[in-house]
Amino acid sequence: MSREAHVQFYESLGVRFPGATHLNQVVLNLLVNAAHAIKEKVKDGEKGQITVRTRTAGQDVEISVSDTGKGIPEAIRNRVFEPFFTTKEVGKGSGQGLALAYTVVVKKHGGKIWFETEVGKGTTFFITLPVSVAAAPKGSA
Ligand SMILES: Nc1ncnc2c1ncn2[C@@H]1O[C@H](COP(=O)(O)OP(=O)(O)OP(=O)(O)O)[C@@H](O)[C@H]1O
Ligand SMILES: [Mg+2]
Repeated sequence: MSREAHVQFYESLGVRFPGATHLNQVVLNLLVNAAHAIKEKVKDGEKGQITVRTRTAGQDVEISVSDTGKGIPEAIRNRVFEPFFTTKEVGKGSGQGLALAYTVVVKKHGGKIWFETEVGKGTTFFITLPVSVAAAPKGSA
């Protein structure tokens, strides 16, 4: 996804985040994960689906990324946000995508990130960001 697409994406929510570059990276990481999860489930020639939804809900902006991929096994659900935790082969993943997402969303913007998943069916990652801090994320001048 191009940078331009991302900028329009946030502007269409009526919000401008000064830390948008980092948030763009977060959404991109979720999209890459979704694509990998689908690739590991579908047979050659089959297609999966990735859905990105955005909305404002009260004082929050919500972004979700859903995939119809393999799902996250119960045994690793509490580890996916850990830095360097990966189930991917060497060279494919370094386990930093969701750790970065957690840092940017939770620590920098005071938001929340979580997921719902069903093995064999797919996964949805949800992000909420408080609009009130949109103009002044922590750690940026
Ligand atoms: N949408 C998803 N569906 C299924 N499993 C997922 C999904 N997103 C993340 N995971 C699991 O969580 C692990 C950690 O994800 P994370 O994005 O942090 O690292 P990575 O994708 O392995 O590597 P990197 O993002 O650094 O390239 C993945 O290796 C995978 O096992
Ligand atoms: Mg990743």
